[in-house]
Amino acid sequence: MLPALLRASQARFADQFGLFLAQQNALDERLIAAIHYAMQNGGKRVRPALAWGACLAVGGDWPQADSAALAVECIHGYSLVHDDLPCMDDDDLRRGQPTCHRQFDEATALLAGDALQALAFRALANTELSAHTKAAQTALLATAAFDMVVGQQLDLAAEGQRLALQPLETVHRHKTGALIRSAVALGAHAGQANTEQLAALDRYADRLGLAFQVHDDILDVIGDTAVLGKTAGADQRHEKSTYPALLGLDAAQALASQLTQEALDALLPLGVSANPLRELARFLLARDH
Ligand code: IPE
Ligand code: IPE
Ligand code: MG
Ligand code: MG
Ligand code: MG
Repeated sequence: MLPALLRASQARFADQFGLFLAQQNALDERLIAAIHYAMQNGGKRVRPALAWGACLAVGGDWPQADSAALAVECIHGYSLVHDDLPCMDDDDLRRGQPTCHRQFDEATALLAGDALQALAFRALANTELSAHTKAAQTALLATAAFDMVVGQQLDLAAEGQRLALQPLETVHRHKTGALIRSAVALGAHAGQANTEQLAALDRYADRLGLAFQVHDDILDVIGDTAVLGKTAGADQRHEKSTYPALLGLDAAQALASQLTQEALDALLPLGVSANPLRELARFLLARDH
């Protein structure tokens, strides 16, 4: 069953993003339609849930982390639209529907991604949080967005190669881990976390971020296209460097479990307020899409 945090985050994100997009310059309806298509189509909303969950874990409330949740998911959405382009992973299916460039066209998909990157920072700028908090969040998100791009470049460069464990971890920590870490950090900052809380949450997010991509690699092997909502076996087709390819399925699964346990251990100092984040970590390890 879907954790309560994720369920609530999905509903809140749909509302908040709808309002946010309606505030943007809609001169070009096709661009707005492509952004809407890429974003409001049933993503799990893991990163918004992490932002809201981290804010709640440190004693904040939901509205404080609205901008963080919107911003990280805009970067994530843009990364997926570009990841699917023919010049990258060349995928036709995303979240059970044609990819953005298939539904629209390549140029529109490229521009929708570009626009989403800008909108992420507009979302962060557009809140009541203190200038100090906004500056910290902006720096964190900019770093994570850059690291994601670095990871994507490393991922493409590794196609057809068999990366060793350490370089593979570097790819995964960049292309996926960085944004997940930033989701938690942005939410924690929104909730005015103290230094100890920030450190515990960052350790959680670090382990969870790596586990998340290891499990994504596993799903590409064992998953079913209809359930995944994206084409199973795409990594093998592209000779991607992945954890199951390098370690085998069992060892990759054991690693994802171990990393998840480390993520849970990291939350010990936070007490019961971190229960939604605990439930989310357990759910992600068992997810089928
Ligand atoms: C997929 O992310 C891409 C990765 C970074 C592994 P998600 O599994 O969070 O995708 P959605 O947003 O739920 O579609
Ligand atoms: C995605 O990695 C990482 C980013 C989009 C930044 P993948 O290429 O494995 O993601 P999927 O499997 O297409 O969702
Ligand atoms: Mg990719
Ligand atoms: Mg891909
Ligand atoms: Mg994948």
